Formats: sequence, C-alpha cells, structure tokens
Amino acid sequence: MNSSASAPGKVILFGEHFVVYGAKAILCSIDKRIKVTSQLIDEKKIKIKSELGNVEADADSSSNDSHELFKPFVYLADKTLKKFNKNCGIEIKIESEIPSGIGLGSSSASCVAAAASITGLFEKLPREDILKLAIEAERKIFNNTSGADCSVCTFGGLAEYDIKNGFKKINSGSDFDLVIANSKQSHNTSEVVEKVKKFKENNKELFDSLYKQESELIQDVFVSLGKNDLSKVGSLMSKNQALLEQIGVSTDKLDILVKEAKKTSFGAKITGAGGGGCIIALVDKSNITPTLTNLKDYAEVFSTRIDNRGLVDTF
Ligand code: PMV
Repeated sequence: MNSSASAPGKVILFGEHFVVYGAKAILCSIDKRIKVTSQLIDEKKIKIKSELGNVEADADSSSNDSHELFKPFVYLADKTLKKFNKNCGIEIKIESEIPSGIGLGSSSASCVAAAASITGLFEKLPREDILKLAIEAERKIFNNTSGADCSVCTFGGLAEYDIKNGFKKINSGSDFDLVIANSKQSHNTSEVVEKVKKFKENNKELFDSLYKQESELIQDVFVSLGKNDLSKVGSLMSKNQALLEQIGVSTDKLDILVKEAKKTSFGAKITGAGGGGCIIALVDKSNITPTLTNLKDYAEVFSTRIDNRGLVDTF
C-alpha cells in the first residue's frame, strides 16, 4: 500500500529574523508543492529517493548516521515503525516543484508531507499532530526553527505567526501575485540566524530600535492588507527590506534584484533568511509582466500565488 501527501512551499512576506526574537511574521504558502509517497518494504531499511540523491539507512538504527539532509525523514520513519512495532522498512519518494535551499520552504514542506505520508501508512492523524511531528523532524537539521514555516505549509493560506501565540490565519480577502527571483546564491538558514544573533549582541540598542520599527510596520501591513491596498503593502515590503539590510542579511546580488524589482512592482524584499536565496516582488495583473521581464535579465524568475489548501493527503 502507498500513502501519499503533498504540502506547499512558502514565502515570508514580513518579519523574518525579528520573528526569532518574538515579533510577528506574516507569511503565505505558494502554489508550488512537494509530494511524498511512502510504502512499507520487507527489507529492514529506510530508503529515500529524491532529486537531491538516494539514501539508505538501517530501519532500527539511530537516525544520526544518515546523510544530514535526510535526517528528518529517517527520524519520522524510525519513530513510526517503532510506534507500530513493525519489523520492516519504509521506502520514501520525494518529488518537488520547489527549488531547495533558497528560502521557499522546501525543507518544511517536505517534513510536513513526509509526516503525513509516513504516518498515513498506519493512521490518519489530525493536521495539528502532523505539524508537531514535522517540526520535531525539521529540528533534526535546524534546531532553532521558529515553527512558522511548517505551520503555513500544513494549514496553507496567508497567516501571521509569532512564537508566543503561534499560527493564525489572516482572512483579509487581499488578492495579489508575487514574482520570485532566485539569486542562485545558496544560503544556510542556521548560519544566517547565528550571524543575526551576533549582530544583536554587538548592537543591542540598534537591534531594539529595528525590532520596534518592524513590529510597528507589521501593524500597518494588517491595515493595508485589509483594504487590499497593494501599493501600500508593497511600500511596507520595501521598508522591511531596509531593516533587513541593516541587520546584514542582504547581499550585493539581492540588493540589485530588489532595486530592479522596485522599478515595476509595488515593492520588493528578501524572503526568508537572506544571505542568498530569493527576493519577492508584490504585483498584480497590471505589473506582473514588466516585473518578470525586467528581472529575467538578472535571475531565474517565476510568479506565484497563495495556495489555500495546505497539506493534502491521499491514502
Ligand atoms: O530561509 P527560510 O525560509 O528558512 O526562513 C528563515 C526564517 C527566519 O526567520 C530567519 C528563521 C525562523 O526560524 O523563523
């Protein structure tokens, strides 16, 4: 028997990095997905097949000796086999429409889809339980994750997130497209988060002031989203970018992409940890084509919209 599940990638519209220190972030899932298909196999192995490589681990060994990238899947398979007292293995196939390592939530989406697909071999868990498992699994490779990414990949849509209150959907009725430009500079989220931690320690007053500005800006975003005032939301994105530049997570390439994107879109910023990865530009039907055309000369570009489905499973 096969058990399949898919989950969407995501972008952070506002609040990355500051969310780690308690601020609100606003994020949305996107219409690019990762699908995970699992099946039980007689051999006592956990076999993972993906475009990033194939890995085999012993089903009853600790997950620590598996390839770093695949630790979450070995963890989930191992835990599930133990829970149901199964003396067999699991084969896991991962198919992705989301480029990895560029801040579009490929890691979280794959953890959410894998948690649903693997547990789906035995039981159908509520989304809240899948989310808990997915966060546990992602912590095998990124211990400091705030949990925001896995939450939006599970529930989908436009959402706010903060560490204290968790995840809450935003029902704003706002309608927009996003243009995503991939700098093709790879980044490591943990390293960039660590760099920001050092920046905060060395520049306490400045960081506190930037944090305050971010929190105020996010209150304005809620108002503008409620009115579907894209021009204002875009200008707030560009303001958010200025704050991210001050904490040192932009790069020359990202600065160029943001500058170019701002010429035709409502506003643009890094999405996710920065230090590489992608920028997003806010657009609608009126300016999507010129923004795509303009950025094509500088980066790999594509457009996306909010995905409202979140986790989808098919048993
Ligand atoms: O680069 P991403 O998409 O994994 O985003 C990281 C977002 C941070 O705020 C920098 C970290 C976090 O866990 O929220």
